[in-house]
Amino acid sequence: MINAEITGWGKCMPPNVLSNHDLEQIVDTTDEWITTRTGIKERRISHVDTSEMAYVAGMRALSAAGKTPEDIDLLIVATCSGDSIIPSTASIVQKKLGASGAAAMDLNSACSGFVYSMVVASNMIKGGANKTALLIGAEKLHYVTDYTDRATCILFGDGAGAVVMEATEEPHGVMATDLGNDGTIYDLLQVPKDGTMGEPGQRDPQMQAISMQGQGVFKQAVTGMAESATISMGKAGVGLEDVDLLIPHQANVRIIDATARRLGLDDSKVFVNIHSYGNTSGATIPVALTEALEQGRIQPGSTVVFAAFGAGMSWGSMVYKWGSRVDPLATPEIDLPPTDQTTMDILSANFDFFGMPEKLA
Ligand code: UT7
Repeated sequence: MINAEITGWGKCMPPNVLSNHDLEQIVDTTDEWITTRTGIKERRISHVDTSEMAYVAGMRALSAAGKTPEDIDLLIVATCSGDSIIPSTASIVQKKLGASGAAAMDLNSACSGFVYSMVVASNMIKGGANKTALLIGAEKLHYVTDYTDRATCILFGDGAGAVVMEATEEPHGVMATDLGNDGTIYDLLQVPKDGTMGEPGQRDPQMQAISMQGQGVFKQAVTGMAESATISMGKAGVGLEDVDLLIPHQANVRIIDATARRLGLDDSKVFVNIHSYGNTSGATIPVALTEALEQGRIQPGSTVVFAAFGAGMSWGSMVYKWGSRVDPLATPEIDLPPTDQTTMDILSANFDFFGMPEKLA
């Protein structure tokens, strides 16, 4: 029977850092509040477009798999902050890669986007439509972040991660999946007028930034991830004792802790890197997976559970049995173009558009 397995992985985090101490200079907040309420210490702010981070992460994943861009027949970019709506960011990434033989599409289910992409790609591979897929989660969330709003600007960051998925007949790979969405509560988290909800030509800064009902999202997140993971584990016939590592969406360390408690999973089996990057939406899962492999947290034969939730409100999970290789086949000499801009230089465009934060005025 054909299954889908992950054969390559990589990430691309832009070099500019926005720390909690930097945010103390911008909005009425403290490092202590952000750390205790979210677990975040710093996040990255990108000087390049989403597609450029996606390209670098994608090339790194391809190298790790021993593949070239010509080898892929499917390219999915999970993003809710892509370069453009038309064309898809995937089309721009395809051009950068030179992946001329691939079908290409964006997949937007916000922070659940990467799990959704893995489910879609694995089913296309299992069904025989595709053999080798490159899946990239990439976000430039600072673009839709209003740095006068202390409730949201402390949370989000930029970055990209990617995996290569290939067909296999070996007894590992995707074991079970679950996806869901509840559109009746879509307004808990939104960029209200980022699309056709706005009037043509209208530029209303208040409506083009992320707005969020934090506590409502928090509750949905914990239930969504825990219930979905339980469903996938049930389908896979996997008990808690069989799980080696949970890789959850990184939105808030308290959400991650509450999800693990609800599942009954020990902290030692949960991967957390939110302190370094904040919430990078569709990118958190592939970035976390890459770091889990780099840190030896995944071993041959490990059972890994992925779980995510996001705007929509969407959720999804996957139980995955790792194969024998946990090291990349190669690491390419590729990186983002360097920049002389400071983090504040990059954010100045946000200050101009959304409003100058009081502390900087
Ligand atoms: O991928 C999905 C993305 N979104 C999320 O995952 C968000 C989920 N929600 C959360 O992570 C949390 O709800 C937040 C971190 C956003 C907020 O934490 P909270 O514990 O729910 O705080 P709260 O909204 O209940 O606010 C408590 C207080 C308020 O002050 P008062 O009304 O009690 O005087 C806020 O004004 O904290 C205040 N506050 C802040 N204080 C210092 C809100 N933001 C800040 C801040 N610094 N940055």
